[in-house]
Amino acid sequence: MLAYRHAFHAGNHADVLKHLVLMLVLRHMNGKDKPYRYVETHAGAGGYSLEGRYAQKKGEFEQGIARLWTRDDLPEALADYVAQVRAFNGGKALRQYPGSPAIARALLRPQDQMRLYELHPTDHRILAAYLADARHTEVHDADGFAGLKGQLPPSTRRAAVLIDPSYEGHGDYGRVVATLRDALQRFAEGVYLVWYPQVQKVEAAQLPRRLEALAPKGWLHARLSVQKADSQGFGLAGSGMFVINPPYTLHDQLAALLPYLVEVLGQYDGASYLLEQRPA
Ligand SMILES: C[S@@+](CC[C@H](N)C(=O)[O-])C[C@H]1O[C@@H](n2cnc3c(N)ncnc32)[C@H](O)[C@@H]1O
Repeated sequence: MLAYRHAFHAGNHADVLKHLVLMLVLRHMNGKDKPYRYVETHAGAGGYSLEGRYAQKKGEFEQGIARLWTRDDLPEALADYVAQVRAFNGGKALRQYPGSPAIARALLRPQDQMRLYELHPTDHRILAAYLADARHTEVHDADGFAGLKGQLPPSTRRAAVLIDPSYEGHGDYGRVVATLRDALQRFAEGVYLVWYPQVQKVEAAQLPRRLEALAPKGWLHARLSVQKADSQGFGLAGSGMFVINPPYTLHDQLAALLPYLVEVLGQYDGASYLLEQRPA
């Protein structure tokens, strides 16, 4: 039984960071004509209502995408991201938020392939219906950690993989590491993006260092911390993106964007970012 529903969190500060980094990676991959395979192990529903009871219950998007929506000073890459969200809303008011499959769908070219995994039956059904007419696309109602094995190496010999679990179930941290170890053996050249939550758990704190050890050819780690954990240490203080084999342009792009995100998304004086990498 899967309790996690991304609809509660759609468009929050963590989605902003994740989807911004995803767009920067895919835009870079689009710089070469050669096709690539895009894989998501944890795809979600593909799109979310911000007016529905899930999103309204916590209003997390108000501290995320809504803070960027009306800005007239967005740096170019953030303007590109907000334009994608605007297009998903038909150019009108902010009522819906695109999930990562919708963002990828907008960026992939006709020659690229999309392979998505989503285990929740409702979210899988919504996702499969949304992508029913998408070309070169498969939507699997199966475990994405296990499914990734069958996607690598890709026939295209180029791949970007987003691993975005909820980390609510036991074992997601360990499965991320084991899945990536296996994936890198099958296809060392892939670009692998891992999202993780900044929460007071030892597994979360250790994850970046465990991923570093798997990535001899280079990695990048970006973390955006926007709020204090509550008095008991609960709550999502921020989140991180760890990218194995990042585009060489990513570090400088994020170095210019993260200070802006701290200013706009920060919810207290201690809001901050971390950006580190080991180049190839
Ligand atoms: C954080 S959400 C994904 C959000 C999505 N990537 C986005 O950015 O729009 C994680 C999703 O993974 C699904 N899920 C949980 N365990 C899974 C597994 N082992 N394989 C595939 N999907 C899983 C959940 O139902 C949930 O929809």
